Amino acid sequence: MNSTIEELHKDHKNIAKLLNLLKIQTEHLQAGDHVDSLQITNIMDYFINYPDIYHHPNEELIFDYLKQRNINTADLIDEINSDHQTMASAAIEIQDEVRQIMCDAVFSRENLVDKLNHYISAYFLHIDIEEDELFPLAEKILDDDDWQFIHAEIKREDDPLFGEKLNNEYEELYKSILNSVDET
Ligand SMILES: [Fe+2]
Repeated sequence: MNSTIEELHKDHKNIAKLLNLLKIQTEHLQAGDHVDSLQITNIMDYFINYPDIYHHPNEELIFDYLKQRNINTADLIDEINSDHQTMASAAIEIQDEVRQIMCDAVFSRENLVDKLNHYISAYFLHIDIEEDELFPLAEKILDDDDWQFIHAEIKREDDPLFGEKLNNEYEELYKSILNSVDET
């Protein structure tokens, strides 16, 4: 597998771990059980500060090359790129709402559950399309020169949660991820 695609694939696996944790909290919320609101805000914080800023623009860079090489991919790529915008706005919206709830704001449980469920399922579907359709096409269609330009243009940033150095603010979240792995 191409090393750039491999990095993006690794990000997807990490994002999926967090979406699964978010799903568990959403189920607690729906059932009226105790919810770890801090965990939700930490997950959203990571999504806002890593995938939305680095992972998605890097994918868009590859997809732009792919679109130039094969115009038939244009509609799907436009859709996927617009998903990135929608998902980023939804993450900020969810983050704001959960933070307000933590400050005792009145909220609609049902509405927040719907927003979270929609965010989670849309994200999983989005990743599946990238993994099953766009990444294989990029590997097939782009040539060595394209990849060299992509490598030169790609933004590289240490992953603050799954990278070499764990950022202090994600310590609790990191423990939750380890615990969830133990349970499976
Ligand atoms: Fe992605």
